[in-house]
Formats: sequence, C-alpha cells, structure tokens
Amino acid sequence: MLVSEKNALTIEIEDLTKSFGDQRESLLPILQEIQLKHGHISDFAQQEIARLLDIHPVEVYGVVTFYSFLSTEPKGRLIVRLCQTITCDLAGKEAIANTLEKELQIKFGETTPDKKFTLEYCNCIGMCDQGPAMLINEQVFTKLTPSKVIEILKKFN
Ligand code: FES
Repeated sequence: MLVSEKNALTIEIEDLTKSFGDQRESLLPILQEIQLKHGHISDFAQQEIARLLDIHPVEVYGVVTFYSFLSTEPKGRLIVRLCQTITCDLAGKEAIANTLEKELQIKFGETTPDKKFTLEYCNCIGMCDQGPAMLINEQVFTKLTPSKVIEILKKFN
C-alpha cells in the first residue's frame, strides 16, 4: 500500500473515532463504516483502529472474523447468502445452490472477477416456512426455485 493511501485511511479512521468516540464501544460502528466504504477491513485498517481505540489488534480481528457481515478480504458489491439450515436444506437448498453456482460461474466462498457478486452460505434467516430462502445484501428472497433464482439474478444485472 502506498504511503498516501495509508494516510488517507488513517485520517478516515481518525474522523470516525471523532464521530463515534474512541472507546471500545465504538469498535463495531467504526468497523461497519469501513466495511461499507471499502468492502472489507484490511490488516492496516484493523491495526489503525486498534491503535486509535487503544485496544489490542487481536480484539479487532476477533470482531471482524466473528460477524459474517464484516470481512478481511474484498467482496463483491452484492453478497448472495443462501440459507443452509435444515428446513431450507430439506426444502431444496441444493438445487438453488447449484443454480447460483452455474449462473454466477463461481463456487460458494468466491467472488466474481468483476467484483459484482460474492456467493456465501448463511444460517437461518427466519424465513423457514418459506424456504429455500436467501439474501442479496439486505433483500430477502423466499420460496426459491431454480427458475426464480435466474429471474432474480437477471434483475441485478
Ligand atoms: S432454515 Fe432457512 S430460513 Fe430458517
């Protein structure tokens, strides 16, 4: 990373600590802001957040890796999360997973080369009676069928 980029990110994190405070309680909101703006939270960002909040970098890393909506790696602008919990599994999750992989031409855990889509599994999203279910960013899609998935993806293209 270039020195100028490092400075820009440090300034950004300093500004966030001014808005949210420099206490431990500010950690999650600051991480969410960085995730939103940069699509991930780099090692450097984690170190700077730890330094400015006066906490150990391991604590920052622990929070980033605990929450599925935070990431240490760059992800796509659209994150497709298919529910893998038992009710959706029994309702036909596998066929949906195969369709998503085929249509996006990536495997679960991967991001498309144009950084548009990331494909992930998630656990129950509270739509068990309408499974199989998935999220695209914050939007919920239920009663999925392979053809419905193809139509949904088309709307995002
Ligand atoms: S099991 Fe899939 S939404 Fe609950």
